[in-house]
Amino acid sequence: MKKLKVGFIGYRGMVGSVLINRMLEEGDFAHIDPVFFSTSNPHGNTYPINGTVYKLHDAYDIEQLLMLDVIISTHGGEYTNTMYCKLEQNNYTGFWLDASSNLRMKDNAVIVLDPINRAVIDKALASGVKLFIGGNCTVSLMLLALGGLFANDLVEWVSSITYQAVSGAGANNMRELLQQWHMVAQNSQAILNDNKHSILELDAKINQLINSEHLPRNYFDYPIAGNVLPWIDVAMANGQTKEEWKGGAEANKILGLVPNTINIDGMCVRVGAMRCHSQALTIKLKDKNLSVTAIEKIIQEHNPWVTVVANNKQDTLSKLTPAAISNTLKVAIGRLRKLNFGDDFLGAFTVGDQLLWGAAEPIRRMLNIIIKHHAN
Ligand code: HSE
Repeated sequence: MKKLKVGFIGYRGMVGSVLINRMLEEGDFAHIDPVFFSTSNPHGNTYPINGTVYKLHDAYDIEQLLMLDVIISTHGGEYTNTMYCKLEQNNYTGFWLDASSNLRMKDNAVIVLDPINRAVIDKALASGVKLFIGGNCTVSLMLLALGGLFANDLVEWVSSITYQAVSGAGANNMRELLQQWHMVAQNSQAILNDNKHSILELDAKINQLINSEHLPRNYFDYPIAGNVLPWIDVAMANGQTKEEWKGGAEANKILGLVPNTINIDGMCVRVGAMRCHSQALTIKLKDKNLSVTAIEKIIQEHNPWVTVVANNKQDTLSKLTPAAISNTLKVAIGRLRKLNFGDDFLGAFTVGDQLLWGAAEPIRRMLNIIIKHHAN
């Protein structure tokens, strides 16, 4: 059978690079005929992929795009806004896979997270749906962590307080966090070397620095080193941020629950972690008689990536942190305990890599699902 012609747009960006690396690790390129596109330098070549250097094509060349069976865009919302419409107008019949949020809530789009919603995906494929979009990172990571509870219909509502890494804001924001740290380090070095110097004096100096115009802040606008930013994305009319709104809207769409929804709300906060999003969860259970041991079992058995961490200090601090989880496909969940509010209230803390399961991996897996669907 002829291999599917798969176009990659934005493959050199951060999510795109993580996607390509995962595809190389899993040998995915053996099953497709890849075509690489560039928005900025369409006349160059790719770096070698499995020994082959591919000629780059213009990402705005509609004729080239129309010849593809699958388009994977990790280039961001602006490209999607421009090109998806054009392709639709030109009766593009292939699949569109996208990491950006723009098309997620369209009626004809499925948000992909196959360990959670494989049935939704299969039904959509069977009915001819061609638009498959990766979910918001905090949403995907929370659903993978709590997959067992959702699959067993044990959740009445969830409140999530997030600690979102700078990678979610983009590569430039990651650099900016490092630049801010660098400036803080430079400005404290002399005092740090002198043990007798007052720590309060140093703290005052650093606080003045991070609030000053000297701190690099071209991308965050505000200090992120030594700070937390309790606002992500734009405002919604009800006082939520859009990131908080996505929690409920996207999770329910992924679970295929709309219009009967599970209430999910909380507070989204940017912190100075590099690429792992963490979330503190309060979960209202439908069944107050479930023991924590039974809950741990249900969670652990749901999917191969979720990792239950025992609720003790050593395991928590060594296994349930961005430092421990970064650059892995694990989604760790721990601090599982019944809260003092009652036996139907479960507390949990979860950590996952924002670029892997939070962005690239659901797209990579969806491509493989499409390939298998095509072969059948
Ligand atoms: N919106 C997310 C964030 C990243 O700002 O962390 C993309 O899912």
